[in-house]
Amino acid sequence: MTELFTTIDALRARLEDAGRVAFVPTMGALHDGHLALVHRAIQVADTVVVSIFVNPLQFGEGEDFGRYPRDLDADRAVLPSGVIVFAPEVTELYPDGDVQVRLSAGAIGDTFEGKTRPGHFDGMLTVVVKLLNIVTPHVVVFGQKDAQQVFLVRRMIQDLNLPVAIDVAPTVREPDGLALSSRNRYLSEPERSTALALSAALSAATDASATRESAVTAAKAALAAEPTADVDYFDLVDPATFLPVPDDFAGEATAIVAARVGTTRLIDNAPVILG
Ligand code: PAF
Repeated sequence: MTELFTTIDALRARLEDAGRVAFVPTMGALHDGHLALVHRAIQVADTVVVSIFVNPLQFGEGEDFGRYPRDLDADRAVLPSGVIVFAPEVTELYPDGDVQVRLSAGAIGDTFEGKTRPGHFDGMLTVVVKLLNIVTPHVVVFGQKDAQQVFLVRRMIQDLNLPVAIDVAPTVREPDGLALSSRNRYLSEPERSTALALSAALSAATDASATRESAVTAAKAALAAEPTADVDYFDLVDPATFLPVPDDFAGEATAIVAARVGTTRLIDNAPVILG
């Protein structure tokens, strides 16, 4: 059985003599991708804290904040016993309804996901820094599936000298390649099939990855084969900067893709060796 805490004070008291703490921040709707993060956390710490909090600050107008799946009992049931769950109400983290001061994700926060979802990364970083200040873990574990989020959290830790290590776990996929995501549960059967265009584009880029141009051409052809996937972007970025790589780039790039399938926005990424 997991231990449940809903207030900051009670959680802080519980963590006073908790030894080495690993922290997995989530918004719930837990799947095997989250569980992989939790199992990684268990290996490196005496105490594992999983937060379950659908953060209103990182959702924009017309996004899925209202319909985001929330089932605390189901989430607790799939977590390994001994894990500490922190599931605060919105009023516990935002007693004034909002915050006066929030973090800025800077220029990279306005690109790719941030271009389509203005303010998303500012809200994400703001809640992550709040949670880090509450849990004060030795290590925080994120999933590579959200590549831009991982890049920005790393930069926040570095830029603000936060005393926490970050561990990043590989994306967990279904046997047919679909990256696990809490939002997959919105997909109808035909939409789920369309959603395979994202991982197909990444595989095509990997297979054709002599140059940036060949990788992009192959990925775009794979995406075009699924016209009902409304592609937002496909690009190859430098993992060190999250900026698009130049045409003559040699080394490991990250291929990133986002598309809307029906009303569901999906993202995925994979490493691609160029040059
Ligand atoms: O990746 C997520 O689920 C969220 O962005 C996070 C890190 C829990 C912050 O709300």
